[in-house]
Amino acid sequence: MKMRIIKGKNYDEMSRMAADVVAAQILLKPNCVLGLATGGSPLGLYKSLIARHNAGELDFAAVRSINLDEYKGLGAESDQSYRYFMNKNLFSHVNIKTENTFVPNGLEEDGDKECARYDALMADMGGTDLQLLGIGHNGHIGFNEPADAFSTGTHCVALAESTIKANTRFFASEADVPRFAYTMGTSGIMHAKTVLLIASGKEKAEIIKKAFTGPVTPQVPASILQLHPNVIFAGDEEALSLL
Ligand code: PGA
Repeated sequence: MKMRIIKGKNYDEMSRMAADVVAAQILLKPNCVLGLATGGSPLGLYKSLIARHNAGELDFAAVRSINLDEYKGLGAESDQSYRYFMNKNLFSHVNIKTENTFVPNGLEEDGDKECARYDALMADMGGTDLQLLGIGHNGHIGFNEPADAFSTGTHCVALAESTIKANTRFFASEADVPRFAYTMGTSGIMHAKTVLLIASGKEKAEIIKKAFTGPVTPQVPASILQLHPNVIFAGDEEALSLL
């Protein structure tokens, strides 16, 4: 494993430092493919990218993006969908072309069809240059939940109980959290040329320690990153406190 650690004092500093990595990728390769993520962790990073774009420092005109996952059953107009999240928190504020942004289609009922479409799309794009990842409290990446074996391609997953609980904060009630999602698989994530994992807060410290210093096991999906040749981990002091 070649892992570089970037340590920010707090969430804001970590977000700016992680945004430096994404900005550098765009400057080096203006038509790069960014693998993007949703959740609380990347919000500050997206804000920082928007500020740089507004300052005239960052051009998304040729950037392409492909997101990790989407809730099954939710479409772009649902304010809990990940397509909505991306539009609201990044895409509508920068000059990325909508037709160059990809998120699994949560409204496609036929899981096999949607997963095959997404894998073909990823292959057509040549994989991702930089894959942004958060990490769940149970070690999930994307919606690859702890399991007996690592997943491979894009697939439909039943969300773990802990994930449903963690994501309830974004919904009116726990019952409203969708139970299934489409997610890029482990092989899609591992094919990224560079992985940028971000985590903040003390509640992530334990899983970060497990993922990066424990055994590589599908029970901790993020532990597979130990086998990736180029991982950058941006964390704040609290998330890094047990490493
Ligand atoms: P979070 O989610 O960024 O909201 O903590 C991370 C994840 O569940 O992958």
